[in-house]
Amino acid sequence: MAGNSLSPEVWMLLLVAAACAHAASSAKPKVCDKGWECKASVYCCNETISDFFQVYQFEDLFSKRNAPIAQAVGFWDYHSFITAAAVYEPLGFGTTGGKQMQMKEVAAFLGHVGSKTSCTNSSTPPNPTVLCFLCSDLPVAGLPLLQVDMALRPREMSPSQSYCDQSYDYPCTPGVDYYGRGALPVYWNYNYGAIGDGLKVDLLNHPEYLEQNATLAFQAAIYRWMTPMKKKQPSAHDVFVGKWKPTKNDTLAKRLPGFGATMNVLYGDLVCGQGSIDAMNNIISHYQYYLDLMGIGRQFSDDNLDCAEQEAFNPSTASSTSSPTAAST
Ligand SMILES: *[C@@H]1O[C@H](CO)[C@@H](O)[C@H](O)[C@H]1NC(C)=O
Ligand SMILES: *[C@@H]1O[C@H](CO)[C@@H](O)[C@H](O)[C@H]1NC(C)=O
Ligand SMILES: *[C@@H]1O[C@H](CO)[C@@H](O)[C@H](O)[C@H]1NC(C)=O
Ligand SMILES: *[C@@H]1O[C@H](CO)[C@@H](O)[C@H](O)[C@H]1NC(C)=O
Repeated sequence: MAGNSLSPEVWMLLLVAAACAHAASSAKPKVCDKGWECKASVYCCNETISDFFQVYQFEDLFSKRNAPIAQAVGFWDYHSFITAAAVYEPLGFGTTGGKQMQMKEVAAFLGHVGSKTSCTNSSTPPNPTVLCFLCSDLPVAGLPLLQVDMALRPREMSPSQSYCDQSYDYPCTPGVDYYGRGALPVYWNYNYGAIGDGLKVDLLNHPEYLEQNATLAFQAAIYRWMTPMKKKQPSAHDVFVGKWKPTKNDTLAKRLPGFGATMNVLYGDLVCGQGSIDAMNNIISHYQYYLDLMGIGRQFSDDNLDCAEQEAFNPSTASSTSSPTAAST
């Protein structure tokens, strides 16, 4: 009989071992797989983007993208977006925080894309760099000059320069122009170089890939959304989904979590800290319009929607060239 029963000491050991095993398993969060779209991540335990954002919704948001004016018939499609998103869903893109936040992040990201790729049908656009890449169907109430022309182009149509700045780490390839291309248009040799490094695609020598491959164009855009401009700074994703705690400096500079700060991360003082300017309002109205179209409603746009009073995370220096800095597109 004695051989069958365990001494108290052994029981203690077993209990401790069991407790440790339990602690270890609960310290390591459960990861999930959702097929090709989301693999081996805690984020994949939530719904994936294709669960709540489907082809018809993409069509609603970008209903005129195949119009002749877009000059990119058949280029952009839902599948390209989801294929690109699949790379970042395991990292939290569109998979963080529960269904409403997930849908809002998709609306926010695509709001940026829509606003940067829409066409204006005005002979005197207020912003000469208005681009035509992926035009959306935005009724531009209150913004009469920005008549979105609902086209969809994969590149800047009338580049004013070649966007080459030899003073940076990524020397321009002779004969190659670095004008805006992609879903969140990329400009300048050094931005093509850095994003190419991030994606492991040679965009410095082949910026044209971004206007030839819609999956890559979306992937570059989501990479930018998910990646801080500088170490110790938050990404647009972080500030939007609430993963970022403002420092005292941030608070003093009126940088607070919300959609407004995504514009600050992506465009800095080109868009933020200048009061209620068109460049900012146009991005906000795309986001809100997409919230409506996705059935969430603009009443859930949340606090800190604008960045009118925010100081830039990365102020452009007075001495830099007159065009977008690294902090911009
Ligand atoms: C998954 O969604 C739930 C709410 O449905 C949320 O509480 C949780 O934070 C989400 N998981 C992650 C990793 O964001
Ligand atoms: C731009 O708008 C004008 C007037 O509304 C219209 O006649 C013209 O066809 C439009 N241009 C394009 C390219 O859609
Ligand atoms: C487009 O880009 C994606 C993502 O980088 C890549 O997997 C795919 O092979 C590319 N397609 C073509 C036709 O090059
Ligand atoms: C906070 O802002 C001040 C003034 O701009 C700056 O000197 C300081 O380095 C900042 N601190 C941090 C932690 O960024």
